[in-house]
Amino acid sequence: MDTTAPFFWGSATASYQCEGAWQEGGKAESMWDRYLHENDLENGDVASDHYHRYREDIETMAKGGQNAYRFSLSWPRIIKNREGEVNEEGIAFYNSLIDTCHEFGVEPFVTIYHWDLPQYWEDEGGWLNEETAHAFEHYARVCFDRFGDRVRYWATFNEPKWFVMSGYLIGNYPPALQDPEKCAHAAFNVMYASALGVKAFRAGGYEGSIGIVHSFGPVDGVDDTLETKIAMRFADNYANNWILDTAATGELPIDLLTDLNRRFDLSYITPDKLQALREGTVDFLGLNYYSRVLVRPYTDGETQLVVNNSGSAFKGSQRVVIKGWFEQVLDDPNMQTTEWGTEIYPDGLRRGLIEVTRRYHLPIYITENGIGVAEDVSQGEVQDDYRIAFMKDHIAAIKAAQEAGADVRGYFVWSTFDLYSWKNGCRKRYGLVAVDFENGYTRTPKKSYRWYRDFIAGEQTGK
Ligand code: BG6
Repeated sequence: MDTTAPFFWGSATASYQCEGAWQEGGKAESMWDRYLHENDLENGDVASDHYHRYREDIETMAKGGQNAYRFSLSWPRIIKNREGEVNEEGIAFYNSLIDTCHEFGVEPFVTIYHWDLPQYWEDEGGWLNEETAHAFEHYARVCFDRFGDRVRYWATFNEPKWFVMSGYLIGNYPPALQDPEKCAHAAFNVMYASALGVKAFRAGGYEGSIGIVHSFGPVDGVDDTLETKIAMRFADNYANNWILDTAATGELPIDLLTDLNRRFDLSYITPDKLQALREGTVDFLGLNYYSRVLVRPYTDGETQLVVNNSGSAFKGSQRVVIKGWFEQVLDDPNMQTTEWGTEIYPDGLRRGLIEVTRRYHLPIYITENGIGVAEDVSQGEVQDDYRIAFMKDHIAAIKAAQEAGADVRGYFVWSTFDLYSWKNGCRKRYGLVAVDFENGYTRTPKKSYRWYRDFIAGEQTGK
């Protein structure tokens, strides 16, 4: 790891959520293209039109003092088909994006997979087919070969938990299944693919470091009883450990495996794959932090998960239950939440960072942190004081964790500019810069952009 690198103050996006140009530049169809079109849902066909405006966007970041840009590569833009043929137009697009970052002094922080699986692999079973893991390895190797001379920070996957749980258990993301056994299988294949990617990176002798990005939800219990402690462990395995333990130590949590093995056929977990997991551990952890997981012991009822990405602002709380394991508390009247029902809880970030450091002793980047709000962008600069307060509180939590020994090396606001929020369309805005989706995709920095710029300048001059 490069220990001389500066602290990264940046922001983040993802290919499907911002690029648009869904049929340009030789791009193949992604599973999100197919799923949203087929279900007649708001889609990212144009998104923020970043494909055509990346230069302006990167320049705006740089003028805002940001020294790093986390973005993802689109697999269907880079690889044409199941045979693994490379799309040179896609390579040219990312070459130009990466070069533009360097031109403006912005470090590219690249995620290889942020959920847009090529439809040609979904047609073959997607993450339920281990061939997809091998195809990912090929795709990752192409990325290292073509961009590795200019990219020093790589992440294999963005949030395995979120796309696997949503795709195979909740059923609100493609492939829209509600099947715990398939969910466990897809989860394993994704972690296996990640390890294959890390191994390919090491074997190729590329410079730089490679990690994984996890949607990080530190677990709290409602009280100190034994029952709650056990529920917390189940929740931690579900929300964190199956990714973090596996990526950081190469070992799946054994109590989770024991439990799953009682219920499902896990014969696909073979010694050679377990060995790959051990050999494919990461250099760093990217943590996306939105909120914690507050739990109480399981009482009754079937497995039931919140579906809050329904396309409209969240209405009232729902039960989140994993049968036999735990229940998540969402109905505490003291909780401060966003209008989509996400708890705002900065102290979870401080305590979580300390805990992750205690467990894994790895460098950490906060690869996403932000607040989604339905904002009116038609009245000039958005006065998003709530976003400024959110960022201040979370940055303070990071600093407190650093003082307690956490090796945090970067902070990326989600998101660089307004973009498409999965299933919520473009109403749920996270950006530092407003995008007027109705009027030519014009960009207008929000008040939070100016605040972040001044904050970063203060950090750099020590004020
Ligand atoms: C993270 C994802 O889970 O949260 C992003 O990495 C996502 O892609 C962000 O947009 C916010 O979630 P949402 O559903 O509100 O857009």
